[in-house]
Amino acid sequence: MSSFYLNNLTDYNTAYEASVKNTEQFWDAIAKKNFLWKKRWSRVLEYDFSVPKIKWFEGAELNITENCIDRHLENNADKTAIIFEPNDPSSESEYITYKELQGRVNKFANVLKSKGVNKGDRVCIYLPMIPELAVSVLACARIGAIHSVVFAGFSSTALATRINDCDCKIVITSDGSYRGAKTIDLKGIVDEALESCPNVNSVLVAKRIHSNINMANGRDEWLEPLLNDASESCDATVMNAEDPLFILYTSGSTGKPKGMVHTTAGYMVYTAHTFKNIFQYQEDDVYWCTADIGWITGHSYIVYGPLLNGATTVMFEGVPNYPNYGRFWDIVQKHNINQFYTAPTAIRALAKQGDDFVNPYDLSSLKVLGTVGEPINDEAWHWYSTTIGKNKCPIVDTWWQTETGGILISPIPNCFSGKPTYATLPFVGIQPALMDENGNEILNTKAEGRLCIKFPWPSIARTIWGDHKRYKDTYFSAFANCYFTGDGALRDENGHYRITGRVDDVVIVSGHNLGTAPIEDAINEHRNIAESAIVGFPHDIKGNALYGFVTLKSESSESEIEVIKSEINALISKKIGPIAKLDKIQITKGLPKTRSGKIMRRILRKIAHKDTGNLGDISTLLNPDVVQSIIDNSLNK
Ligand code: WT7
Repeated sequence: MSSFYLNNLTDYNTAYEASVKNTEQFWDAIAKKNFLWKKRWSRVLEYDFSVPKIKWFEGAELNITENCIDRHLENNADKTAIIFEPNDPSSESEYITYKELQGRVNKFANVLKSKGVNKGDRVCIYLPMIPELAVSVLACARIGAIHSVVFAGFSSTALATRINDCDCKIVITSDGSYRGAKTIDLKGIVDEALESCPNVNSVLVAKRIHSNINMANGRDEWLEPLLNDASESCDATVMNAEDPLFILYTSGSTGKPKGMVHTTAGYMVYTAHTFKNIFQYQEDDVYWCTADIGWITGHSYIVYGPLLNGATTVMFEGVPNYPNYGRFWDIVQKHNINQFYTAPTAIRALAKQGDDFVNPYDLSSLKVLGTVGEPINDEAWHWYSTTIGKNKCPIVDTWWQTETGGILISPIPNCFSGKPTYATLPFVGIQPALMDENGNEILNTKAEGRLCIKFPWPSIARTIWGDHKRYKDTYFSAFANCYFTGDGALRDENGHYRITGRVDDVVIVSGHNLGTAPIEDAINEHRNIAESAIVGFPHDIKGNALYGFVTLKSESSESEIEVIKSEINALISKKIGPIAKLDKIQITKGLPKTRSGKIMRRILRKIAHKDTGNLGDISTLLNPDVVQSIIDNSLNK
């Protein structure tokens, strides 16, 4: 068996056993065989979850961009690294070879250097899905700067919070972006954000929509002339294994977003290994993940994982329904996509439009189909498998998180197949456990509980930027000596896992991880809102949608309430982004509370789920009477 490629079930079983028994030896062999190191590690793993402290490949020196780009030049300089598919289907696609990518990354790296960016500095990237996004990410990595990509759908307030949290002094953006038939004024959003970011002294602007924008004197510069003048060669900065590679923010169940810090060597080894085995990438395949690079899926499985394997990876600028609901399949046909990776919410939205949008296209190039971001329901799984995969493509339902860096539970098509709604078995090196209410591991195979991981893997986030205590409290405190995922799961008699959803105050809406607390904070700023509680409820397309229970400071007429409701969503759009808008807003006289004054979200969740048969004991509530009135006026009856 090649230690890199798992060819069959025996390979998987043997590798899995070895990966659990001798974890260090296992990753040592993979890391030695497949990557370019400037210096080998002195120790594979050092960890203590109680601190928590996790170090992989300590002592090693490398640069991840040499692994993503330079080392492929010897044999594959002219192979396409990135295919850029623009929003407008009548515009030309762009094919960037590995050689060209090297030149573009180096030029960009030299521009960053000329702006005073040094190793360890944070660089905020707020760009649409255009080549500059991937290039700027890699340019940061080239010189050891830490990239912090902020999804370009986030609002100015959300952007400012993220810029300030990790103290970025430079922002990379564009004059605007295309989104289907619309254009978005990205630069305007940046300008607004920077009003509250005093430390940003440089903004580099890519030209995309050629709009007339404001360029602040001494601060803003167009990228193009700077790139034109920059040299195509740039030595890769030597990085230590545990030097941060990037920060990526994810919502938490409380307060501000968490800047998850991923480091260099472990992240590289793990994303490369999972990409190769789970997507079964073969030389000359064309791989497409429809995510945005602003999310972890894009970091690990559009940029790093594919490029580390010398793959051809597609970047799509547009949306699934422009110019019509056949766009994805048009792209699959046009570029002969072999591996296609998307989210359940997209699958459901497309399935709903009917097969007439699929049938005109030749999808015979497809070999593996992937899904990520939330549990996939049975119906969507079957539609994907039958209508898109023509019953010949394995489906990889990949479970993971921003914090995990790479896929932890997923089918590996060569080794074992998928099963509708199940993420199936742990990847090599991953040791899941289900915990009961009392914090004990459930040892029966068939079980349901809280999903934890008992042992570190190379790409686990090492800390939360600037808040190691929060890292410990969030992930390592609920259960002793385990990483707690925040998800619930069940395990069948064959040990296959099915993720049942979040067990904390995070709701996954259209595959986006949204903390309810920051949304409540945003709307509580409304002059007439006394308090609010937001919970998720099932939604046909989005998976979950948000339901807000809101109490007002003063009695309001029906027409005033309508105004307040639209102001609530406007506030959310402004503070967080349109993705966090509420689908349902119920004005209530009060919220159910414990005697210590804590809002009982569990009860509100049941009401939103139309599951009021068994609310449990509510007699201990401070205000049990309020529950019946909320049920009577529920918008989800
Ligand atoms: C949460 C993490 C990992 C990239 C995208 C989301 C949910 C993710 C699955 C799946 C069921 C899933 C979990 C997880 N989730 N993939 N295949 N089946 N649930 O990253 O924004 O950090 O969200 O997404 O609840 O905890 P994220």
